[in-house]
Amino acid sequence: MKKITPTSISKQKAAKTRALPLEVDAARRPPLGMTPAVFLRDYWQKRPLLIRNAFPGFVSPIEPGDLAGLACEEAALSRLISQDREHDTWTVRHGPFDEAEFPGMPRQDWTLLVQDVDKWDADVATVLAAFDFLPRWRIDDVMVSFAAPGGSVGAHVDQYDVFLLQADGHRRWQIDASPNPPLAFRDDVELRLLREFNPTHEWVLGPGDMLYLPPGVPHHGVAEDACLTFSVGMRAPSAAELLGDFVDTLASEADESLRYRDPDLAPPRDPAEIDAAAMGRVVEALNMLRMNDPERLGDWFGRFITVYRSAGVVQGEDAADAGDLEAQLDDGAVLARHPFSRMAWRRSARGARLYVSGQALPLPIKDAPRIANSSLIDSEAYRALSAEGRECLMELVRQGHYQLVDDTDEAGPDT
Ligand code: SIN
Ligand code: CO
Repeated sequence: MKKITPTSISKQKAAKTRALPLEVDAARRPPLGMTPAVFLRDYWQKRPLLIRNAFPGFVSPIEPGDLAGLACEEAALSRLISQDREHDTWTVRHGPFDEAEFPGMPRQDWTLLVQDVDKWDADVATVLAAFDFLPRWRIDDVMVSFAAPGGSVGAHVDQYDVFLLQADGHRRWQIDASPNPPLAFRDDVELRLLREFNPTHEWVLGPGDMLYLPPGVPHHGVAEDACLTFSVGMRAPSAAELLGDFVDTLASEADESLRYRDPDLAPPRDPAEIDAAAMGRVVEALNMLRMNDPERLGDWFGRFITVYRSAGVVQGEDAADAGDLEAQLDDGAVLARHPFSRMAWRRSARGARLYVSGQALPLPIKDAPRIANSSLIDSEAYRALSAEGRECLMELVRQGHYQLVDDTDEAGPDT
């Protein structure tokens, strides 16, 4: 038998890496062109992938006019990016825009981008069901862009994974998939555009095609014709954001009497010296904050991640009455989750914790996943909850996280 050495293993790995295609056709395969497990193993956070026919026969659930209308809303986050090709200058304007502006836009070289469109348009939100192979709390939003022919946001790099789904028309994507691409920014434009961009791959995407990019891959997408692109973007808090928020939480909850203490103090060799014993006591004082208690850490993270980068605030309106609510559910009404509510859950030492837009709620283990995974709750789903689960749901209704609707189409953001 051939002896396996570390070198032969790394050669095999290298050969496998080389063999992985950067392009698949998903027409007669699962949506990613492979199973989610294979995608996560081979591509997720590792290398780009162009997926032809990721959504075969895709028809955009939103039209350019709807996007322009949304960009005129006060609460929607929108940007208009235009390029003057001749002078290579760029202009960025932030919404809300005036509806009267759009008919007068030039024929080419501009892009309108609106974030969180999944929160405003329930049909756009349905696209997210295809991304259920990722933790829901990792997904940020569906940003939709409309580009006139030639429109682009310039060559740039993102810090987050993104799935760029071509929803309508055609866009030419160029990417630099080389191992150490140059990442310096131009300092003459408001946008974070790359100073140097050396594409290694180029594709024209049509409706239903999708390009996956891990963080840090330079890319540039130019509209071939008037086109719509959906960017399903992820959220990944930086280590500094995590540490800053965790420490703030621990500090705000800490008892003032927990302090640096030195009952074992001996006469110092030098009164100006911070000696090793003093540093040991500093560590002891920090440990009093119980930074490595898994329950505190879990509760903090659940609360943190369900508010991190949330663009909308959920507010309660009426004092809901459980009897009324049950009667209406029995009459066919449903509870629809507020599109800006974020939910996640975690197993805890005693049952489960449901995290809802920054709060932690204790729940029996059978209820937490049911509520966290239900954007619509009908009478049957309501009755499947325990008494504690129903009480928790009532509280969420009072806070505005669920709203009673007769017709599910009526649910939309109410910020
Ligand atoms: C776009 O939709 O034009 C830009 C999306 C991106 O590059 O991240
Ligand atoms: Co990008």
